[in-house]
Amino acid sequence: MCSRYPLLLALFLALPVAAEDHRQLAALSSEAQATLRQEMLDNLIALNEILSLVAANKIKDAGEVAENSLGRSAMGKNARLPFAHRPGPQMPPAMHDIGRGGHFAASEFAAAAASGNRERALALLPNLTASCVGCHAAYRSR
Ligand code: HEC
Repeated sequence: MCSRYPLLLALFLALPVAAEDHRQLAALSSEAQATLRQEMLDNLIALNEILSLVAANKIKDAGEVAENSLGRSAMGKNARLPFAHRPGPQMPPAMHDIGRGGHFAASEFAAAAASGNRERALALLPNLTASCVGCHAAYRSR
């Protein structure tokens, strides 16, 4: 098959190179990984809800979801968990900073949305995903 499809062969040979992962490994305990994964799944749901509300021109509602699910109000909710279950303190400091920055960005969007300043809220909207992308591009947990 490969002699008939040299391009396919080249692709198979190139695959291991393409799959190489240069992201820094964050050595989280398995319990912390489980906490993080659940948080991540909730993040994505919240993000989808925010975008849907913005599209429906319900900016204030979008701001409320952003503040409660992603903003400062959503910080520190793991503090009462045993240390092994808490991803934040186990992260490299720079990774943890990206996470904190994401909470601040969500609160900034929420404040603009709450004030009814639609244009400013829209301008701040991409900041909601910037920290997701920034962290995922730089770090992995396995
Ligand atoms: C501080 C770093 C960081 C930030 C910020 C971050 N993530 Fe993640 N995310 C991770 C890591 C690490 C994983 C891998 C978790 C694992 O499987 O152990 C992950 C995994 C995920 C997953 C896959 C979950 C699964 O099923 O395994 C989703 C979805 C996700 N993130 C969404 C988001 C969204 C949406 C945002 C922004 C609102 C976000 N993340 C912000 C670090 C981050």
